[in-house]
Amino acid sequence: MKFFVDTADTTAISELNDLGMVDGVTTNPSLILKSGRDILEVTKEICDIVSGPVSAEVVATDADAMIAEGRKLADIAGNITVKLPLTWDGLKACKVLSTEGKMVNVTLCFSANQALLAAKAGATFISPFIGRLDDINLDGMDLIQDIRTIYDNFGFETQILAASIRSVNHIQDAALIGADVITAPPEVIRKLASHPLTDKGLQQFMDDWSKTGQKIL
Ligand code: E4P
Repeated sequence: MKFFVDTADTTAISELNDLGMVDGVTTNPSLILKSGRDILEVTKEICDIVSGPVSAEVVATDADAMIAEGRKLADIAGNITVKLPLTWDGLKACKVLSTEGKMVNVTLCFSANQALLAAKAGATFISPFIGRLDDINLDGMDLIQDIRTIYDNFGFETQILAASIRSVNHIQDAALIGADVITAPPEVIRKLASHPLTDKGLQQFMDDWSKTGQKIL
């Protein structure tokens, strides 16, 4: 499973990237706002840090303008993935940009039928939003399972990029179902390393070690 980091915070991206935890990055207009940076500038910086796909989202809503914005974003670096919303215009733009050989991430997916359309339009990635479905009392993980089944039934190569991840359980469940990629905020990726029994066991070892009076260095 590939790990994408869902942020435009270049310090957090660099730290995780140095650990080999970053296979790609996803951004969106809200994350650009949070970064306080210029979209073209910060996206270029991210592309210089990470060699994998870096999603940069268009903000136009009609297909022709989405295509123009997508081409401009794709010019930033060879690893840009143009992120398009799952609307009819977004699907039109997806078909054009993917036919040009650009990577496309179709975002804001909330149904298996939407995911089917994105695959048929040539999307490289489909981003079903787990957390936002959970927020309205639906089960985001059911959607990941349904898309996995449909894509496997017909051999679609579009990668399932489980997004809107809020917890470590989301990552484990998406991995068990077979999502190709997860994108999560840096703090959720860091939490994957935590376990209370690890902390308790380490404390015990440290206490016993100090009683030995020994040193390794
Ligand atoms: C993914 O590409 C999105 O940027 C992101 O996962 C949205 O997450 P949120 O629902 O927590 O804002």
